[in-house]
Amino acid sequence: MEREKLFHPTLSDIQVYADKEMAAQAAANEIIKAVQENPKIAITYATGDTMIPVYEALQRASQQGVVDFSNTTAFHLDEYYPYAPTKEFSFVKFLKDRVFNPLSIKPDNIHTLNGLASNGDIEAERYDDLLRKKIVGITLLGIGPGGHIGFNERNTSFTSRTHLAQLSIQTVYRDKIERNQDTPDMALTQGIETILESKRLVMVAYGTTKGDYLHEALDLEVTETCPASALRLHSNKVSMFIDKDAKLQIELNRSKEAV
Ligand code: PGA
Repeated sequence: MEREKLFHPTLSDIQVYADKEMAAQAAANEIIKAVQENPKIAITYATGDTMIPVYEALQRASQQGVVDFSNTTAFHLDEYYPYAPTKEFSFVKFLKDRVFNPLSIKPDNIHTLNGLASNGDIEAERYDDLLRKKIVGITLLGIGPGGHIGFNERNTSFTSRTHLAQLSIQTVYRDKIERNQDTPDMALTQGIETILESKRLVMVAYGTTKGDYLHEALDLEVTETCPASALRLHSNKVSMFIDKDAKLQIELNRSKEAV
């Protein structure tokens, strides 16, 4: 598969592909390899449009018998709150349809955030306790408005654990106006510290808007103002899979700052 690398002083594995399908396939290949090496690996799955082609690639591999996910353990990053797992935009529903069922992961090995829990704080604590007891081998990440990872919005502490989060205006605007979702303004999310405990972090991003988010995360200060900049504190475990458009946008921003 054609690929080049985007230079970064500390993140040495930013892989650039001609288009989003190729970037998604490459990210999926990382997951497949990890499952082949450790069939009982625990994986934290991300949701969102970015992950759709990644999960399609995992499904293809599973159907072809290249990889067996049945003994893996599944966690996920976040869920709207309060929100039923049967509703259209539930992240649990997204993952049931695209990952848990098609990859035949055993129900006992699937750990989901309950968007209907009567107390969100207690639910977040319950989930965080489960995560503390497991070594998560790989966490998949997208990047969203303000450089958010999971639903950790701007100014979330780098030492945050799984918690109930208020979504930013930018995220709410994207969800409600641009995507026409009926979702609430709050969510349960793994915290930044929780996410960074994963042995490996695989970020996937395509397009120029994501290129802007990535530029801030990669090239400006490491600061709680930009949640994704926290990945630079663990550069040895991070791999990124991006497309050419995202790379060009990062380079455009870099060139503007250089003048
Ligand atoms: P998206 O979301 O993949 O739907 O763009 C990513 C995110 O908000 O983290």
